[in-house]
Amino acid sequence: MTAPQTSKKPNWFMQTLGSTIGRKLLMALTGLFLILFLTVHLIGNLQLLLPDNGKTFNEYAEFMGHNKLIQAVSFGNFFFIVLHIIVSLVLTFQNQSARPVQYAYKSKTKISPAARQMMVLGTLILIFIVVHLVNFWGKAKFGEMPKTAEGLHDLYLVTKTAFESPVLVGLYVFSMIALAFHLSHGFQSAFQTIGLNHNKYTPFIKTLGTIYSIGVPFLYALIPIIMHIQFHLK
Ligand code: HEM
Repeated sequence: MTAPQTSKKPNWFMQTLGSTIGRKLLMALTGLFLILFLTVHLIGNLQLLLPDNGKTFNEYAEFMGHNKLIQAVSFGNFFFIVLHIIVSLVLTFQNQSARPVQYAYKSKTKISPAARQMMVLGTLILIFIVVHLVNFWGKAKFGEMPKTAEGLHDLYLVTKTAFESPVLVGLYVFSMIALAFHLSHGFQSAFQTIGLNHNKYTPFIKTLGTIYSIGVPFLYALIPIIMHIQFHLK
């Protein structure tokens, strides 16, 4: 008589995490989600520069803060940031333990400087995100918020006051340079991992990646710089 089979359904998530290609895929998909977030967040934040004393930006922030769908996306956002970090650590650890003795020739020629520095750049971005969340998100969610005449949270005033500090502006500019280098490798690499590696599309993705990784951090850096100049011109 054969013993009854106790067939446990394999957990797809653990299976994906358990294989190298699965981890690379998770890295790419979480990265692409974060690229999407960066684009939407930038469009929202550029409203800070409208000459209406923050009216449009505060209305937008109010909508984003109270919409159930946006709140769910926001939860997913934090989840994907954490997952992106965990999988990157697992991949790096795995690469190192698989190659205890570095091939000086291979590692110097095959991997781009940006790729080798991805972990350092990622760590700088993580430090930036923590400072950023404490400054803005933490205040918006848990702090005492000033109110506009219409009774909305005045997140514009909080942002404007924060960017009076040249140290904070410097941190933003420095972090956006790190973000540009991180994206310049990550963007292309993510598309390559999901299989969009074709003679026809690769040059387009490379160009798009370059434009994105310079343009998006540049516009992000412009916001604190302009708000800081506006403060001094008053
Ligand atoms: C000048 C640049 C930026 C400004 C002015 C800005 C402003 C803000 C503000 C005001 C919030 C709080 C929104 C709210 O909770 O209602 C926020 C949230 C956030 N920011 Fe930024 N941000 C900037 C750049 C960035 C960058 C470059 C990143 C990522 C690398 C980032 C990541 C986040 C995250 C993860 C949140 C939390 C969003 C959520 O609730 O899902 N921000 N930002």
